[in-house]
Amino acid sequence: MSKDYIDIQDYSKEELETLLELIVPMKAGYKARELPALLDRRTLSMVFLGSSLRTRMSFEVAMNALGGNGLYIRPGDLHLGVKETLKDTAIVMGSMCDGIVCRSPQYSDIAGLAKDAKVSVINGMADDCNHPTQALCDVFTMYEKSGKIKGLNLAFVGDTSKGFGVIGRDLMLMASKLGFNFYCASPKEYMVDDEYRKMIMDNASKSGAEIVITEDPKEVVKNADFLTCDAITWYGFEDEEEDRFRILMPYQVNKELFDLTPSHCQFMHCLPAKRGEEVTAEVIDGPRSIVFDQAENRLHAELSLCAAFLGDEKDIKNVEESGNLSENTKQIITILRKWYAMQN
Ligand code: CP
Repeated sequence: MSKDYIDIQDYSKEELETLLELIVPMKAGYKARELPALLDRRTLSMVFLGSSLRTRMSFEVAMNALGGNGLYIRPGDLHLGVKETLKDTAIVMGSMCDGIVCRSPQYSDIAGLAKDAKVSVINGMADDCNHPTQALCDVFTMYEKSGKIKGLNLAFVGDTSKGFGVIGRDLMLMASKLGFNFYCASPKEYMVDDEYRKMIMDNASKSGAEIVITEDPKEVVKNADFLTCDAITWYGFEDEEEDRFRILMPYQVNKELFDLTPSHCQFMHCLPAKRGEEVTAEVIDGPRSIVFDQAENRLHAELSLCAAFLGDEKDIKNVEESGNLSENTKQIITILRKWYAMQN
């Protein structure tokens, strides 16, 4: 239990399932333009120390859709690290808003905000560590497409190393918590470290997830319901770009690899993608790619996160007092009450 959503490991299977369950009526309510104003007069500070399309846009739209406000703070806007400490920034920001989403090159920035801000902090991606909002969206997308979580087979090919393999590591963590199967192929140079592997295997022994970690991409795709990967080159990788290409290009998702998957297997990618690097255009733009449904689901996952982490029982009462609630809104309220009860 935590007031912040900065690390999936902080949450139990039941809590993660509740956040996922909430996305279903949130998406339905958004599509029907009938979401309740659960975050009326609440503000989310959106601190982006790096560029973003999906994360920034999804949080801002989610806050508006729930009757609140997203305050976008661009890279370079703050005094942070130049004229003001992280601690002072966290205290001031927390005194003026109801929650903070932060994207940073360093997890330590996000953890520091969480430590000193009295409001909830949501991790909008730490380049050197994790991307838990993306991982929540990805699990929801697989659930939506397949109707199940238990028994799902997700294959990942690429970097899972500490400090770089953000997507692979968080999806592995989700699998180990929620009990779906994760088949991972990484080269030994960019392989998940022993400490993380131990945590994953400990989680998996409780959830029943099967976690397979190997160097052979062909081995992990053969039973995949979904196949995904992560960027080979990215900001901060410039010094080792040549090595990364040499070592990670054999892990590219191309027609040859995708042809080894079952015919129902769908391709996922968190985007942005570099066609011709980690994935070919033929696969990502092909008929079994669901990357744009996945991207849209960022919004619906953020609706769940914003309501869960910024709202409280008073917000629910205000909505109830406004009267005439739809069945979908009643379902949202029931799930939110379950969530709030778990947090007390
Ligand atoms: N997937 C993702 O986090 O996209 P952005 O970098 O555009 O936010």
